[in-house]
Amino acid sequence: MSRTHFSGLALLFLVAFPPAHAVKYQVVDRTGYITGCNRFQTEIGSFYTRQLMRAASSFIWLTFNESMGERKDHDPVTLVIHRFQWSFRKILFHEMTHVWQQYGNGKAPRGLVNGIADYMRLRAGLAPKKWAQRGSGLRWDESYAVTAYFLDHCNGLKNGFVAELNSLMEDDYSDEFFSITELD
Ligand SMILES: *[C@@H]1O[C@H](CO)[C@@H](O)[C@H](O)[C@H]1NC(C)=O
Repeated sequence: MSRTHFSGLALLFLVAFPPAHAVKYQVVDRTGYITGCNRFQTEIGSFYTRQLMRAASSFIWLTFNESMGERKDHDPVTLVIHRFQWSFRKILFHEMTHVWQQYGNGKAPRGLVNGIADYMRLRAGLAPKKWAQRGSGLRWDESYAVTAYFLDHCNGLKNGFVAELNSLMEDDYSDEFFSITELD
């Protein structure tokens, strides 16, 4: 049997028995062609992007300490690419967090929501060099890097803090959540 036939069979097997609860990831490329060349397709590509979406999701679920039944239900997840950008992976981790994180039934402060998304890429080692200095900022919920560093500090005091906070935010939000998690 030739190699081609063999991989063809292996593929059929995967299609017939997909892993339980596997999320489908889709990429829609809207970047278009500039002078006959699509930089997104030649330098990143939809296949790699789907792999990255899958890897980011696993990382996020792990950081949120969520097992299969506890994760939010989104299927398929579609990523629409409008513009080619080198900081692609960093942005992807931030945006994928928005897919899986809790919003306290819409009551969670925007700064905290974006802070959690940036905390995720900080944990993944994808914090941009140009980020604000750790310890700078005026308020904990100032958003993005400042809030991400604040959350990282809390998580350092109590491992699993961000995961617990996220799970408390499933149906509601209150600043009290910070004391419920018994941070001393
Ligand atoms: C993760 O969740 C399990 C229970 O679902 C809990 O026992 C464990 O302490 C959690 N881990 C962290 C780091 O919070």
